[in-house]
Parts: sequence; C-alpha cells; structure tokens
Amino acid sequence: MTWALWGFALLGCSLASASGVYRLDDALGLASEFDGIGALSGGGATSRLLVNYPEPYRSQILDYLFKPNFAAALQILKVEIGGDAQSTDGTEPSHMHYEDDENYFRGYEWWLMKEAKKRNPNIKLIGLPWAFPGWVGRGENWPYDYPDVTAYYIVSWIIGAKRFHDLDIDYIGIWNERSFSSKYIKLLRYTLDKQELQRVRIIASDNLWEPISFFMLVDSELREAVDIIGAHYPGTKTVPSALQTKKKLWASEDYSTFNDEVGAGCWARILNQNFVNGKMTSTIAWNLVASYYEDLPFGRCGLMTAQEPWSGHYTVNPPIWITAHTTHFTQPGWYYLQADGHLEKGGSYVALTDRQGNLTIIIETMTHDHSKCIRPLLSPYFVSPQKATFHLKGSFSKLKSLHTWYSKLEFNSPNSTLFQSLGPINVSEGVLTLNLGLDEVYTLTTLTAGFEKPFPDPPASQPFPSDYKDDFNIRNPPFSEAPNFADQTGVFEYFVNVSDPGEHVFTLRQVVTQRPITWVTESEHPISIIGNYKWVNLTITCDIYIESNDGGAFIAGRVNKGGIYAKAAKGIFFWVFPDGTYRVTGDLGGEEVLMKGLSGVRAKAWHTLTLILTGTNASGMLNGNPLWANVTITDPGNGWAAIGTHTFEFTQFDNFHVQAN
Ligand SMILES: *[C@@H]1O[C@H](CO)[C@@H](O)[C@H](O)[C@H]1NC(C)=O
Ligand SMILES: *[C@@H]1O[C@H](CO)[C@@H](O)[C@H](O)[C@H]1NC(C)=O
Ligand SMILES: *[C@@H]1O[C@H](CO)[C@@H](O)[C@H](O)[C@H]1NC(C)=O
Ligand SMILES: *[C@@H]1O[C@H](CO)[C@@H](O)[C@H](O)[C@H]1NC(C)=O
Ligand SMILES: *[C@@H]1O[C@H](CO)[C@@H](O)[C@H](O)[C@H]1NC(C)=O
Ligand SMILES: *[C@@H]1O[C@H](CO)[C@@H](O)[C@H](O)[C@H]1NC(C)=O
Ligand SMILES: *[C@@H]1O[C@H](CO)[C@@H](O)[C@H](O)[C@H]1NC(C)=O
Repeated sequence: MTWALWGFALLGCSLASASGVYRLDDALGLASEFDGIGALSGGGATSRLLVNYPEPYRSQILDYLFKPNFAAALQILKVEIGGDAQSTDGTEPSHMHYEDDENYFRGYEWWLMKEAKKRNPNIKLIGLPWAFPGWVGRGENWPYDYPDVTAYYIVSWIIGAKRFHDLDIDYIGIWNERSFSSKYIKLLRYTLDKQELQRVRIIASDNLWEPISFFMLVDSELREAVDIIGAHYPGTKTVPSALQTKKKLWASEDYSTFNDEVGAGCWARILNQNFVNGKMTSTIAWNLVASYYEDLPFGRCGLMTAQEPWSGHYTVNPPIWITAHTTHFTQPGWYYLQADGHLEKGGSYVALTDRQGNLTIIIETMTHDHSKCIRPLLSPYFVSPQKATFHLKGSFSKLKSLHTWYSKLEFNSPNSTLFQSLGPINVSEGVLTLNLGLDEVYTLTTLTAGFEKPFPDPPASQPFPSDYKDDFNIRNPPFSEAPNFADQTGVFEYFVNVSDPGEHVFTLRQVVTQRPITWVTESEHPISIIGNYKWVNLTITCDIYIESNDGGAFIAGRVNKGGIYAKAAKGIFFWVFPDGTYRVTGDLGGEEVLMKGLSGVRAKAWHTLTLILTGTNASGMLNGNPLWANVTITDPGNGWAAIGTHTFEFTQFDNFHVQAN
C-alpha cells in the first residue's frame, strides 16, 4: 500500500468511526425491491399438531402468525407440496398418491393457506416439493427422467389450489435441496404458460447459489424461466455469479434455530444482513410453527411453538416479535434505500420506503454468541455500544418525528423486552441520533400501525393423555389424517368401507402402495408415531386388517426415533404377517428379532393386537389371548407408541388404545 492510499484509508476510517453517521437519501436512487418476510410450513409435517388444536387457541395461533399488524404478520407463506415421503419431521400426503388419483383435500396445507389468506389477503404463497409419489418417476427414485410427468404433477397442484380452494399460488419451486434439471425447469415454465399461469413465478433451486446461477449465465432460456434464485442458509452472503444473473436473490429457507432468545437473535441478524451482505430481498424461516413432537429432529425450530393440541397450550416465542419489527412497517413492493447497512461498531441497519414518503428503518445490534443460527458457522465479530446518527435526506428531510419500536434480548436476566412502542422520537432538521446498546432491535417508522393487545395466556402445558383412544368413527372428518398420529413413512388416512357389516366401517388406512421418490433414505416400513416420548410402561391395543398377502402390520412402543432418523428407530415392535407368523423385534428395520412364532393371522381379516411393556418385560396378545410373553427388553428405555406396516401395501387400523403408567 502506498502512503497516499494508507492516508486515504485512515482518513476514511476515522471519519466514519468518529461520527457513526449514516445517510438515508432516496434521491440517490433506490436499491432493490423488497419481497417480504415469510415462513415455511412443511418440509416436513411441521404443522402436523396445529390442525387439531381446539378453538379458540387454534385461531389465536393463526392470528399470531398471519394477522396484519398483530404479531408475526408474515408476508409470505411457503408450503410443502406433500410427496408421501419423509421430509424431516414426518411425511405429508400427496394430492396424487397414484397416477389415476387426484384429491385436493388431503393434509393441512390447503387449510393453512386459506387461514393465512383469510387474515391477510395479500400474503404471497409458495409451493415446493420435497418428494414425489413413486409413479412420477415410473419406479425410479428420480423425478427428472419423465420431466413432463413431473411438470404435470406440479402444475396440477397449482390448478387444484385455485379450483378447489380459490388459492392463487404466486411462486413454485423445483425440488428442495436436491438436483435441478434445466430441461425440467424450462418445461415447467412452458407447462405453466400453457395453462395460463404466467403469473406463477419460478424459484430455483432451493439449494446453494451454484450451480443454478452458473447454469443461468450460460443458458439464456433457463435465465428467462427462473425468476428468483433461492438459496438455503446462505449465511447472509451471496456469490458473484448469482449477482451477475441480475435476478432477485432470496434466502428461500433460513433460520431453523431453537426459538429461544438466541434463535430470535439469529433471526434479527439475518433479516437485516441477508440484504446488507447478500442483497437478498426475502428471507423465509423454516419453520412457521413448531407443531410436531419436540423429540423429533429440530424440535422447537419454529418461529413459535404449538405442540400440544391435547392441552391447548402454546408459546409465542421471541422470534415472532423480531418478525414484527419488519413486517408491521413494510410491504412486499417497498424498496430498500441504498445504504452500506453496516454500523460502525457492529450490527446493521436497513431502510425501506413505499416511494410515497413513508420510511422504515430497522436496526439490529446482535452480538455473536447471542445470534448464532443452526447453520452455517458464524465467524467471530464484535459489537459495542455505539451512538448512531441518521441523516434523513431527499423525501425524508422534512420528517419531524418517527415512531419507535424496541426489543432487547436478555440473556442474564429473566425477561427480554419484545416489540415495545417507545412512542415518537424527534427528528431535528433531518438528524436523528440513537444510543444503541447490545442485542437490541429498533424500528423507526413513519407508519402509525396500531398494535392490538395479544390474547390472554393459553392453558397450561400438559403431557399427552396417558389413556388415549381413537376408533376413527368420524363422518366427514375435517382433515384426512387422525389427530396426533404423526406419519414418519407412508401415509395413514381416514378410510370408509361402506360394505363393511358394521364394526369397521370407519378405519385408518396406510395408503402409499409404492416407494416414493424420496428426499432422505427412509424406512421401508410405513410407520406413524403417537403419544409421549417419555412413555416407558404401556399397553397398546389396536385392530389391524392386512389387505394383501404381501403385507404385514405392527404396533410398537418405546419408539425412539422419527423424522429423518426414523429408519434407525429402535423400540419394541410386534409384527404379524398374513402367512400366519408373528415376530417381535427391537428395531423398525426388523434385524433384531427378540421372539417369533405362529399366530394364525391372515390377510383380509380383522385381528386385535396388544403389546404390554412393563419395566424390562414385554408380552403380546392376539385377539385378547396371550401369544408371547417374558421377552426381556432393556433398550430403548422410552419412546412413542406407533402403528405401521411391513411393506407399502394397504393396511387398516381400528380401535387404537394406549394406556401408559
Ligand atoms: C404512508 O403510508 C400511509 C398508509 O399506507 C399513507 O396513508 C400515507 O399517505 C403514506 N405517506 C406518508 C408520507 O405518510
Ligand atoms: C418475567 O415475566 C414473567 C411472566 O410474564 C413475570 O411473571 C415476571 O415477573 C417477570 N420478571 C421480571 C424480572 O420482570
Ligand atoms: C419532541 O418535540 C416536541 C415538539 O417539538 C417537544 O414538545 C418534545 O419535548 C420533544 N421531545 C423530546 C424528547 O425532545
Ligand atoms: C370392506 O368390507 C368388506 C366386507 O367386510 C370386505 O369384504 C372388503 O374387503 C372391505 N374392503 C376393504 C378395502 O377393506
Ligand atoms: C415401569 O415399570 C417398572 C416395573 O413395574 C417400574 O419399576 C418402573 O418404575 C416403571 N417406570 C415408570 C417410568 O413408570
Ligand atoms: C412368564 O413368566 C412368569 C413369571 O416368571 C411365568 O409364570 C410364566 O409362566 C411365564 N410365561 C411364559 C409364557 O413363559
Ligand atoms: C410379563 O408381563 C406379562 C403380561 O403382563 C405377565 O404375564 C408376565 O408374568 C410378566 N413376566 C414377568 C417375568 O414378570
């Protein structure tokens, strides 16, 4: 470095640090258009328990998430397009289990999108598949060999959303965190256009910045087809090739952090810095609401927690109020102002305008250890208390005051300050000065958005009922799946057999008959878990009906793994097969056989299985008679109850009953 440059650098540095002055001036020209803050339901089954909350709590939770100017006030809702396969914390049902099948009333994502739209008609909707039913790949574990079939499958979902639910899907993705195919993306664009769905924009590839950006730079047709480059967990940074495409850049999945104060710190930091460092104009949290059993992978990595439909208990966690700092005072379609965005002594600021004179400034001063996200690794940095002076110029030079909203995340004392109004702050001749502390968020805004009082506290937390029954006898169930059952492989749906003489008209049926195009290595044995992970001693009874000679069914207790780890689950599994045999295994994979013998079970007949677990002693009954006993079990010590099947075959379940003590 020459002396001249050295001097210049010193001067530049000392000027900025001494002053801590930041200029906000729309006359300099605006930066990018802001596309909104969102969250993701699914990927997978993350809203599973929400749907069965009793009122008024379910509506309250939805208000906390979607109601404008209330709490999170989300601007984007992204949902999984169910693919009948495990997608992190469970499976979500497809709208086309089989090639000749179409049903747009399965699962809960349709319902959730409608509830979101009811509260905020302007909320943007995104659909993205994690997995696909097996027929889409014609038996191959790959969705791009028949790209026309895949495009037809995806576009059908968009058309079904409109036809059956009056939902306009705004954005569609490719294949979550897996390979993309340029040929498929172009064909998807072509298929959308042919269906007059030009308005549906394509996001690609919901993985890393590259190679999609690179492919777009060398393939103009691909560049035309893709509207938004969506990267996951970008660590607030982008890459030159992504910038060179001149496309919108989004953190199309981010956050994924336990929803305590550190999670809130993570969220506050990335909401600002994804734009400041990476020019991203939207950030989408995985996940929307932690509504899955907490002992599944990534427990409580939602913006709030609602994992107890049996008690009605939920918690509004700090990330909800961090979201409010941006969403109450911006809209998709606003513009970021040009600004460096880094605060002199650590932290960041962004400023946005509606181009009609409104201004919103969001400032965060999150310290390193209090804002680590689950990924990627956060390099060390320092933040100190500092004075920040904002010079408002251009359209904002005449502003006399700004409304101020404040949060401070506390780590040593019990309570954080979350999204409190500090009233108006005076702006004197376009100058505004703040003394910023650590782990704080400020919003300064011209908007006078109201803020309603939250609801009274929900009921207290309760464990899952220790005596739980479901006979599935429900006409016109509001959802296709029975409450509290959390499918981990396969799909278990309400089923009605009108020809049944009476006892088993209404049942629960495993309906996936072909291994799906998977997102993770999943179990070969469909399984749905239920109950309390802490359960040790219990009696499970369930009627089973194996429909095919290639099938088999089980009930299980102390099941210790689910989600992406379901394949490796251990527990005590009591299986029966239509060849008249039974087996007791210590694992879902069926490797560890603890007992086996004859049972007389056959296909197309109802049988009642009972599994009794007491301390280290397991025993089983068939149709109320002892079948096996005195099997010694030591591991695992606790876990969920479960039902399941041996293969991807139709199998029915009825009169489920679990008693734990
Ligand atoms: C700001 O937004 C409000 C509400 O949308 C609008 O009424 C007002 O005209 C806008 N402009 C200014 C300068 O407040
Ligand atoms: C923290 O919040 C709880 C619950 O709102 C309240 O009972 C308690 O008094 C608060 N503690 C402090 C130190 O403010
Ligand atoms: C802000 O300005 C108003 C009106 O000029 C004045 O009454 C008030 O005292 C000022 N507040 C502060 C904190 O300076
Ligand atoms: C429905 O019930 C009838 C009469 O019991 C039985 O023959 C038939 O196999 C059942 N169908 C299914 C799909 O369970
Ligand atoms: C389970 O049962 C065994 C044997 O009766 C008993 O020793 C143990 O305390 C029980 N465990 C729990 C958690 O109830
Ligand atoms: C199980 O153990 C009990 C107590 O030791 C014994 O009475 C019973 O006969 C055994 N049952 C079987 C089927 O082995
Ligand atoms: C194990 O449990 C079964 C069923 O409750 C019971 O019949 C049996 O005696 C128990 N065995 C031992 C060794 O306690």
